[in-house]
Amino acid sequence: MFQRGQRAQPDAPAPTAGTVRLRIRRYDPDRDPEPHWETYQAPRQPGDRLLDALHHVKWYVDGSLSFRRSCAHGVCGSDAMRVNGVNRLACKVLLKDLGDEVIVEPIQGLPLAKDLIVDMEPFFASYRAVMPYLITAGHEPTRERLQSPEQRDRYDDTTKCILCAACTGSCPVYWVDGRYVGPATIVNAHRFIFDSRDTAAGERLEILKGRDGVFRCRTTFNCTDACPRGIQVTQAIIEVRRAIVGAQI
Ligand code: FES
Repeated sequence: MFQRGQRAQPDAPAPTAGTVRLRIRRYDPDRDPEPHWETYQAPRQPGDRLLDALHHVKWYVDGSLSFRRSCAHGVCGSDAMRVNGVNRLACKVLLKDLGDEVIVEPIQGLPLAKDLIVDMEPFFASYRAVMPYLITAGHEPTRERLQSPEQRDRYDDTTKCILCAACTGSCPVYWVDGRYVGPATIVNAHRFIFDSRDTAAGERLEILKGRDGVFRCRTTFNCTDACPRGIQVTQAIIEVRRAIVGAQI
């Protein structure tokens, strides 16, 4: 068990391309009344990502620093954080693109658990509410449910979501009212609403037309800018709105 400030391993790699200064927002609910800032130096190798610098701090400087990560390749979606004021995946953003000082904070809008870790349960509760799975009617088919390439293309963009919450955590509407379902939930509803094999689009649209649904969006495009998968999040929200009002889409 590492204590804050404890040196976790004795031999940190020597920097070969300078260093980067990390200002990290820290919070330990067991000892800190409020979040505060701490500053660290980390080596900057060519090609390093922010996650490499965070690993350096955790492994060689202060083992108590807490953050989520798993795949380190932009797939699992666990390391979304606010980097220089913009939500990013730490494993995808390159240090060379962040300047000599990098400000690292947890994403906003979700309850802070510790350091860069937020409680994702409200996010997943909203996600589950729109039934993010294929719903079909009738008997079990005796063969695959076929779909044309055009039908598959209709929702291709929204299949890319990795549930990192970078979009929802960048939404100013969500910041002030966590009852709003948020962009990630709408993206995942879109993925099934426009799937020609699914039969529950009406139920999802009914949920999303409510007070906390798609009409809360103020089209600031923060979500689209934040998405590490390049999903056209705002466009998906607009398409779900149009489906609700029965417009041609
Ligand atoms: S660690 Fe998996 S997406 Fe970054």
